[in-house]
Amino acid sequence: MNSATGAETRAVSTAPPADAVSTHSLSLSVNGQPHRLQVEAWVSLLDLLRDRLQLTGTKKGCDHGQCGACTVLVDGRRINSCLTLAVMNDGRDVTTIEGLADGDRLHPLQAAFVEHDALQCGYCTPGQICSAVGLINEGEAESNDEIREMMSGNICRCGAYPQIVQAVVQVVRGPVSNRVPAQAQGMTAGDGASEARP
Ligand code: FES
Ligand code: FES
Repeated sequence: MNSATGAETRAVSTAPPADAVSTHSLSLSVNGQPHRLQVEAWVSLLDLLRDRLQLTGTKKGCDHGQCGACTVLVDGRRINSCLTLAVMNDGRDVTTIEGLADGDRLHPLQAAFVEHDALQCGYCTPGQICSAVGLINEGEAESNDEIREMMSGNICRCGAYPQIVQAVVQVVRGPVSNRVPAQAQGMTAGDGASEARP
């Protein structure tokens, strides 16, 4: 209390409040749409996609790199989005399952999964399909055994593996035009899967 005026005075602190959280700016293209975001350092790309951009097609299974349900494409390469921080992907192009179809026209892998009935509950399916797109972009898998091996980071608890492999084989052996998305430009045949994969 100011004794001369009787007015109450308050100390003004320049220190941030105890619960203040610093954020980082992030520019990201997701399915061709540019985004500018402020995110906390610990937010994973998976949580950014699901919780902040409402792109819930990408699934959270284990949240620690064991199941592949969260697979998306970053600059055309498949990664487990639960294992990468959103801020580490500043300036990159992200493609999720929502970005694969061309309007009403399904991506060839989506169509092949339908044709081969390659799902039961469907929880693993977005990750399986994104992983298969990355596999095709890598250009290394040819035999069924190679496809099985290179898709082994994507777990299907329903055991739909035979149909999944049939669908992927059909597209892998299809025309080169199946090699999408365009963000894969710059990859070389030896790039392989991201280090973020198990
Ligand atoms: S949620 Fe299982 S690998 Fe990411
Ligand atoms: S279809 Fe159910 S987990 Fe793969």
